[in-house]
Amino acid sequence: MGQFTTLLEQVFMGARHVKSYAMEEYETKRAATLIDRLHRLIAKASRVRAVSSPLMETLGGVAIVAVIVYGGNQVIDGTRTTGTFFSFIASFLIAYEPVKRLANLNVSMQEGLAAADRVFTLIDTPPAIADAPGAPALAVTRGEVRFEGVRFHYADPEAPQLDGLNLVIPAGQKVALVGPSGAGKSTILNLIPRFYDVTAGRIQIDGQNVQSVTLASLRRSVGLVSQEVSLFDDSVRANIAYGRPEASEAEIIQAARDAAAHEFITELPQGYDTVVGEFGVKLSGGQRQRLSIARAMLKNAPILLLDEATSALDTESERLVQAALDRLMQGRTVLVIAHRLSTVVDADLIYVLERGKVVERGSHAELLARTGLYARLHALQFAEPVAG
Ligand SMILES: Nc1ncnc2c1ncn2[C@@H]1O[C@H](COP(=O)(O)OP(=O)(O)OP(=O)(O)O)[C@@H](O)[C@H]1O
Ligand SMILES: [Mg+2]
Repeated sequence: MGQFTTLLEQVFMGARHVKSYAMEEYETKRAATLIDRLHRLIAKASRVRAVSSPLMETLGGVAIVAVIVYGGNQVIDGTRTTGTFFSFIASFLIAYEPVKRLANLNVSMQEGLAAADRVFTLIDTPPAIADAPGAPALAVTRGEVRFEGVRFHYADPEAPQLDGLNLVIPAGQKVALVGPSGAGKSTILNLIPRFYDVTAGRIQIDGQNVQSVTLASLRRSVGLVSQEVSLFDDSVRANIAYGRPEASEAEIIQAARDAAAHEFITELPQGYDTVVGEFGVKLSGGQRQRLSIARAMLKNAPILLLDEATSALDTESERLVQAALDRLMQGRTVLVIAHRLSTVVDADLIYVLERGKVVERGSHAELLARTGLYARLHALQFAEPVAG
């Protein structure tokens, strides 16, 4: 039961990864296997319980004998009439079993109903985002992503998070998003693989509206490396091959090498077979990041979304992660939420966001020269010596 809830928790928390790597079926199978096992275990427990019932019956029999001996003696002594005694025995025997069963039945029924209610509420929820009828697959030719007049709000239509946003991520270029916390940077990233749908305007990839192509093809074309890395309770190999279970050993090792992860993986107790995740070997922040970079390397999607980690890594780790990221970004269209100075400096184009709107755009040098929001943010965020 614990394993099952852990699996569910992980899959729900990592839902974006499951979706963007199109692993819904894989997870369904994993859950089915666990449910099967659980089913068998419960059946076994029931058998054990069934075996113990004869013992209880024997005790019950002894109790009845005791009642007869005690009550019979009272009748013989004349302190009780035969009629009362037999009426008591008869009602006792008739009522005993059904009452016992009824009490048990009620408990099981209440448990079952409560559980079923919760499960069905979830199962009956229709997916908010689905393929349009007859949608074609996305064909990425160059990899240009374009936001046109995009409006978006989460819960409150009165307070939109994105308000008429226009931005272009030219094919094969590296575009950085910067802006104060809550400006809507992560929101923009989430709209591209359609974790949410825009409320107005449109997002196009190579001229195709993301809402009119299939989700599977869209998410195949988009790689995502997010701030928090989701590792699954599985081997290092399976974690890297997530989304491409058919990848060969050589491909997996190559991806790990490119992500500067091969070395530390071979030093783990069982190498690529080491189980990581909640029940496995705990990895450091930098190691987890490099595993997720290896995963994206192997997926090899033409469009890469990168939410850079804010957590401070030590200098050596930082250098390794940065080098791995540089290799990952090569030859792809990259949209990166930038926290590292180096990322911002060599971006082809930087968009500065504030409250869901683009307030400035240009290269690092142009924006610095303008002494606007970017220059202010830059002075605050990046001019300080790097901690750690
Ligand atoms: N799932 C959500 N439901 C409701 N509101 C949300 C949700 N996610 C984000 N928001 C709100 O949307 C706004 C933009 O959030 P977003 O995560 O895009 O900011 P951000 O620019 O990525 O900030 P940071 O730099 O801190 O990561 C915030 O006001 C936030 O409170
Ligand atoms: Mg964010």
